[in-house]
Amino acid sequence: MPARILIVNGPNLNMLGSREPEIYGKETLADIEAKCKEHAAQLGLEMDFMQSNVEGELVTAIQRAAKDHQGLLINAGAYTHTSIAIMDALLLLKIPVIEVHLSNIFKREAFRHESFISKAAKGVICGFGSGSYILALDGVAALIKSKE
Ligand code: DQA
Repeated sequence: MPARILIVNGPNLNMLGSREPEIYGKETLADIEAKCKEHAAQLGLEMDFMQSNVEGELVTAIQRAAKDHQGLLINAGAYTHTSIAIMDALLLLKIPVIEVHLSNIFKREAFRHESFISKAAKGVICGFGSGSYILALDGVAALIKSKE
């Protein structure tokens, strides 16, 4: 059975395409999902992709990943910098978690330099636009393979 991974997207990422394109690029979240799906298939992975603006919905999706998925990528948007609830949900998982950001958060405002997600992540990829998701897929695929 192919490994199944979950890609979780947080608040305002549904607005990609029109949201500050000079920072986040012109691709929509649907464009990124399509790219990820294609790349995941090349890696032999099944992929689920979700987005929510609601913190609790993100927590519930992360909790469910414990039984349905073998790896998780997360771009928690602004919750990266604020959400202990999302960090705690991620800390419960025994599957590899990779933190993803389109922008280089370390090049931006100081409040974006702190990440609660990093405390629960195996690795972090930021600054490559949608390419961050693709690199993270490569990373999670390698981690899953090394465990097999
Ligand atoms: C982001 C960076 C966050 O600081 C911001 O709040 C986002 C997007 C990124 O992908 O670059 O919503 O996670």
